[in-house]
Amino acid sequence: MFAQRLAQVSASATLKAAAEAERLRRAGIKVVDFTAGEPDFPTPEHVKAAGKAAIDANFTRYTAAAGIPELREAICARYGRQYGVEIAAAEVLVTAGGKQALFNTALALFDPGDEVITHAPYWPTIPEQVKLVGATPVIVQTRSDEGFTVDPEAVIAAMTPRTKAVIINSPCNPTGAMVDEAALSPIVDAAAKRGIWIVVDLCYEQLIYEQVPHNLPKLLFDRHRDRTVLAGSASKSYAMTGWRCGWTIAPKALTGAFNTIQGQTTSNIASITQKAALAAIGGPQDTVTAMLNEYRERRDNIHAWLTAHPAIRCVKPRGAFYLFPDISGLLSPEGIGTSADFAQALLEKEHVAVTAGEGFDAPGYLRISYAASMEDLREGATRILRFAESLQPVRA
Ligand SMILES: Cc1ncc(COP(=O)(O)O)c(C=O)c1O
Repeated sequence: MFAQRLAQVSASATLKAAAEAERLRRAGIKVVDFTAGEPDFPTPEHVKAAGKAAIDANFTRYTAAAGIPELREAICARYGRQYGVEIAAAEVLVTAGGKQALFNTALALFDPGDEVITHAPYWPTIPEQVKLVGATPVIVQTRSDEGFTVDPEAVIAAMTPRTKAVIINSPCNPTGAMVDEAALSPIVDAAAKRGIWIVVDLCYEQLIYEQVPHNLPKLLFDRHRDRTVLAGSASKSYAMTGWRCGWTIAPKALTGAFNTIQGQTTSNIASITQKAALAAIGGPQDTVTAMLNEYRERRDNIHAWLTAHPAIRCVKPRGAFYLFPDISGLLSPEGIGTSADFAQALLEKEHVAVTAGEGFDAPGYLRISYAASMEDLREGATRILRFAESLQPVRA
């Protein structure tokens, strides 16, 4: 009944977990919810004020599909300041979140038969979008005992004559790992030799706790600019998930293709959002720093609390706001056999909602979002530890 292209595509696992938690909440149960893929902070006041002012000034009509020039300029200026790269407004297109930025990229670049390499554990949208346009995701696994770092040799070994692109997500959802310059560099060289595109999802680029050499835009622009796409987002940095603002930075011709796609699908993102995003990106950044500091403290605490259990192993994330513990030591054929069952039982018994690793191509893990209050983190950690204690035998 539906189009063939849907046969391969799955619904979002993270949204499913959140819906299950919501169901319990509606039944009056106090659920500690660690499924959120979004900041728990409100949008900063000056950003909200800019949105309100846009409405009052009747800035409520269509804009150019690619976005208002001042916002595109502000994005260029931000990347100039942050990475020392020079970008023209004609290389920037404003999208309804990073999700549309990546989907425009998939539509414009990937054909059926093309292979697109990415790393796992991954944000599920990345391979699902590849499948949605008929191309084939090729997955390179990363390992928790290596800090989920991407091994460039493994990525290069996965390249074939059909490879159209490599998609890198750094900082990574769900692992919080980063792909640093040293890891990206050989991938760029191999891609340049073979004419392969590199797409970097930088949605969490402002949420970095441990500094590593991470000037990926400069590295790519210096060596591979004609086949680079950067996808960015206002969602996480500025607590603006509901406003829907992201962007692509790509060569002018590809940006023109994105413009055609967007012009025939959604057109511009909300005019009001564009004014708010302009205030966010062009205005003071102290709210970003304040949120980052708070996330860091939460990360340190939840990491320490959970890893106090001998069977919970967890890499300390360097960016984003997720913990991705390996709980395979708590699983057993006689008890709870999978992380999906673990997440379900944890929700039912202790009313803590987490996302099972299966959805990220990582069975045996859980994703715990620490975009939650310290009080909830404390309470949730207590309940998780109590649940873990109740499982026997524990294999450390
Ligand atoms: C890795 C990653 N990329 C991109 C996005 C897109 O977010 P948005 O569409 O809100 O900008 C998300 C959201 O969860 C994400 O986790």
